[in-house]
Amino acid sequence: MLIDKLNWRYATKKMDPSKSVPEDKVERILEAARLAPTSSGLQPYEIIVVTNPEVRAKIQAAAWNQAQVTEGSHLLVFAAWDNYTPERINKMFDLVNEERGFTNEGWENYRQMLLNTYPPRDAQVNFEHAARQAYIGFGLAITAAAFEGVDATPMEGFDPVQVDEILGLKARGLRSVTLLPIGYRQSEGDWLVNLKKVRRPKDEFISKVA
Ligand SMILES: Cc1cc2nc3c(=O)[nH]c(=O)nc-3n(C[C@H](O)[C@H](O)[C@H](O)COP(=O)(O)O)c2cc1C
Repeated sequence: MLIDKLNWRYATKKMDPSKSVPEDKVERILEAARLAPTSSGLQPYEIIVVTNPEVRAKIQAAAWNQAQVTEGSHLLVFAAWDNYTPERINKMFDLVNEERGFTNEGWENYRQMLLNTYPPRDAQVNFEHAARQAYIGFGLAITAAAFEGVDATPMEGFDPVQVDEILGLKARGLRSVTLLPIGYRQSEGDWLVNLKKVRRPKDEFISKVA
């Protein structure tokens, strides 16, 4: 059951550097993120998969020296568009038309509405909107990792400016949003592994309007 897997997962603090996540599992975790819904289907973010040890060591230094960045076997960097441009919006709408093989007036009106609304807005507002979409893929990747029995640590604890610099993201019109090291827990040396998972009780989290 998915719930069992979600209870199994935790924000792993120590990973076993001798264990590597098999590529088929990595592919399925990435595919779950690719299938994530996004506002207007724009998918305004990318995932950079970093395995290079030197690059990961640099990122670790920019991430509060968190060990999982280098102890995991793969580091997924979720990076959002720095802005919405007409090119980016048109590319996605054109792709939909091409893949579906038809155009539709309602859809084209919707494209125009986005073209009139997003690009004139402040770049920071657009980036933050794009970053929120990246978080949806991030959540699905965390879920998919748990489903695959792969450990992962969601991370916001890093300096995005430095990570953007290390990965050359600015030139690609991207800004790093979150990190997700994946690997396998090393229970000895992980203070969190045996601690109870704590969540607010359901009645404080969910209310119903019936
Ligand atoms: C967006 C986000 C950012 C986080 N940043 C970090 C981080 O930088 N380092 C870390 O060890 N854990 C980080 N966490 C893990 C949370 O502390 C953890 O998910 C939360 O305490 C719940 O515990 P659990 O994931 O073990 O169930 C982050 C989690 C999320 C969702």
